[in-house]
Amino acid sequence: MPRSDASNAGLPRHVAIIMDGNGRWARQRGLPRSAGHVAGVESVRAVVRTAVDIGLANLTLYAFSTENWKRPLIEVNHLMTLFRGYFRKDVRQLRDMNVRMRIIGNRSRAAEDILSMIEEGEKLTEGNTGLNLAFAFDYGAQEEIVAAARNFACAVKEGTVDPESITVESFSKQLQTGGMPDPDFVIRTSGERRLSNFLLFQSAYSEFLFLDTMWPDFRRAEFLAALEHFVARDRRFGTVAPEAVA
Ligand code: FPP
Repeated sequence: MPRSDASNAGLPRHVAIIMDGNGRWARQRGLPRSAGHVAGVESVRAVVRTAVDIGLANLTLYAFSTENWKRPLIEVNHLMTLFRGYFRKDVRQLRDMNVRMRIIGNRSRAAEDILSMIEEGEKLTEGNTGLNLAFAFDYGAQEEIVAAARNFACAVKEGTVDPESITVESFSKQLQTGGMPDPDFVIRTSGERRLSNFLLFQSAYSEFLFLDTMWPDFRRAEFLAALEHFVARDRRFGTVAPEAVA
């Protein structure tokens, strides 16, 4: 599905991926879990490059959930080291590929140096007009929804918002993905079939694809194959197909 193919017709507007299975990938090979995360970073690179090559508009990658802090400290520290390496090294390439990167999630718990790298990356790429790339980092959808509700509650209390005026659209804009279209395609690797607190509000009408492939094995070919699944699906948004109406 190269960029020249039918002007990307049928591609999802926003793909969101739950990158799962790094630990099992490593265990299957007799390696430490950390080796799975290292290989997982290569999959991130491959998927981002593929998204750029095919002209995808929006990609969100679930890099670290609010619950991931509960992992053993040694693993959390290793993941943070990988994020540091990625944000330090890859951001210039993202800029050169016309990618605009941003982070969605809680910015108050990560180490200061990581936060500054993230902010630098966002600044460096903010003028880019190609792929919108969001890393969900210290992200949890329930927290995100509650924060949006709290914002509205405060605004109502202050008298700046009329409760009757709150709509799905105005609520969506308060979410951290505000400005991006809702994901029309959510992929999860590693055989697990759950959302794990990822984009719960935004995925109301998403198509889902659950793959047995472990994240470190999910590279360009696997991503393109997954997109073929989406293209083949019949999306009706709660309506019926016109030919099915008697
Ligand atoms: C799930 O595998 C993966 C994660 C918790 C983190 C995702 C991180 C990466 C892909 C690497 C770093 C990313 C960036 C953006 C630089 P798991 O450990 O839950 O695997 P398991 O379910 O098999 O144990």
